[in-house]
Amino acid sequence: QQFIAVVPAAGAGKRMLANCPKQYLTIDNKTILEHTVERLLSHPSINKVIIALSANDEYFPQTSLINNVQVETVIGGKERVDSVLAGLTAIDPEDYSWVLVHDAARPCVTHDDISSLITHCLAKEVGGLLAAPVRDTMKRSVLSTLNGQQVLSTVARENLWHALTPQMFPVRELKAAIINGLKQGAELTDESSAIERANLPSLLISASSENIKITHPDDLALATFFLAKQKQQQHK
Ligand code: CTP
Ligand code: MG
Repeated sequence: QQFIAVVPAAGAGKRMLANCPKQYLTIDNKTILEHTVERLLSHPSINKVIIALSANDEYFPQTSLINNVQVETVIGGKERVDSVLAGLTAIDPEDYSWVLVHDAARPCVTHDDISSLITHCLAKEVGGLLAAPVRDTMKRSVLSTLNGQQVLSTVARENLWHALTPQMFPVRELKAAIINGLKQGAELTDESSAIERANLPSLLISASSENIKITHPDDLALATFFLAKQKQQQHK
């Protein structure tokens, strides 16, 4: 079975403080967006990628992806969820009943983790997401007038996860969940949050913490390191 991926790449990358959107910064002479999309398309189970771009994107036509027949583009929206919805709308559920949504800013996702997500979701017939267990002790804070942010309590780490991508769900189910969530004014920061609001199940699939989202300037060096390491391990 072949799968389709939607890649939201319409963000401005404000926290990256670069002079272009972060997905167009380069690692090894290749843009982050190219790394990410090539990683997806080289997976044996993914044969098509829909990329959501900003309406005034001037960088994409200069990438190799413009000539890739397995790539389609749509215009994204104001928030990540709007970009994802634009991508979902371009899918014919008769062609692809499941979709994997993956951040443009996560080039270090491994094929093993993508396979693990697909295998688990198909086996249980339930959508899900890659996630990394929280490592640090977690604190909940309360704002104290005397001391500023003060610890209210410690949150048990065992049941806490970092939500990563890809997140894989049935196309129709995800689209309906997002449209409903947006109608109700919910803030939907990932696909699973829309599914959760609709009271539908979502599986957590434990994944490599190398699958970072490039967000701050320091993350670029980290992603460069992981990509080099993965290349050496023939892990791409
Ligand atoms: N994204 C998108 N459309 C938006 C906002 C974000 O497609 N309106 C995409 C980004 O391009 C990125 C992914 O969603 O691949 C994750 O978002 P984030 O890391 O927050 O990227 P940016 O919004 O670009 O960065 P920042 O929040 O620092 O401005
Ligand atoms: Mg953002």
